Amino acid sequence: MSEKKVVFSGIQPTGTIHLGNYLGAVQGWVNRQDTKDNFFCVVDLHALTVPQEPDLLRQQTRELTALLIACGIDPDKSTLFIQSHVAAHAEACWLLNCVTPLGWLHRMTQYKDKAAKQESILTGLLDYPVLMTGDILLYDAHEVPVGDDQKQHVELARDIAIRFNNLYDSPFFVVPEVVIPPVAARVMGLNDPAVKMSKSHSHIRGHAVALLDEPKEILRSFKKAVTDNHNEIAFSADPERAGVNNLLGIYKAITGKPNDAVEADFANARGYGDLKVGVAELVIKTLAPIKARYEQLIADPAELDRILAQGAAQANAVAAAKVDAMKHLMGLVVPGGAHVASAE
Ligand code: TRP
Repeated sequence: MSEKKVVFSGIQPTGTIHLGNYLGAVQGWVNRQDTKDNFFCVVDLHALTVPQEPDLLRQQTRELTALLIACGIDPDKSTLFIQSHVAAHAEACWLLNCVTPLGWLHRMTQYKDKAAKQESILTGLLDYPVLMTGDILLYDAHEVPVGDDQKQHVELARDIAIRFNNLYDSPFFVVPEVVIPPVAARVMGLNDPAVKMSKSHSHIRGHAVALLDEPKEILRSFKKAVTDNHNEIAFSADPERAGVNNLLGIYKAITGKPNDAVEADFANARGYGDLKVGVAELVIKTLAPIKARYEQLIADPAELDRILAQGAAQANAVAAAKVDAMKHLMGLVVPGGAHVASAE
């Protein structure tokens, strides 16, 4: 067995991923591929917890996978797969449903927020965190890197793991840790630097920069970015200057330079116009090779299918054995199950 820590990351195939996702999450995923044993899962089953247009969901799922590869996720180093390709995820969800008290799910703040916005609430929406728990526990993930909004779900996964272990066999599941990724840039909306750049605001022009935006569009979005009238290019925690701080933060996240070096790079700027163009040009240069690789992949569906089949086979090899062991512990007859019993 490898000594590397197992890390599980999930990403929803809805909306288009943008610069905030890239700098805040995906870049970190790419960089940790040599030091961790990574599972990257495109969580299409989670997407179904709110109404979706079937053809669009299918298309976005393929596009996201291609985009992740284009960003540098290497299918030979990491396990990249689509959640619904590995049947154990839906099965684990059911099994875990049967050890999870309903009250735990009603407490989830994301459920409460999302439910308040829906006319009719689907059962799957309430069950979302149990599906997510299965994702994590099937691979005995030690670490789950997530944003603040998903922390409560990973804490629930810990509670469910502990409960399952206490009920059936300790330590059957690894109790996962939440990892809030370090230095992951918190990229704010260009049109409104008080809110995080978000997929759900992507329809608002000038809010987000999608990874596949044309250079012209990127430049336009940056030129229209909200700033302030202080006319000082410096990092600042002052909410009034959040726009400039955000532009510098993007530059910093891409270059990896410390704050003073970032500020020094703009020492000769004649104003915010120069700052906006400077950051836009860097973003365009960073995204160009990603876009080129993406176009190549999406034009070759057979190659993408091959990569997806490889990822699903790798994930399934781990997840199918784990779910069989869960079934056995819970009292189900596993087909040809003598081997499960004797593996204890
Ligand atoms: N719920 C996560 C999100 O919306 C996505 C996700 C699904 C996930 N399963 C996961 C994240 C397992 C981490 C681990 O961002």
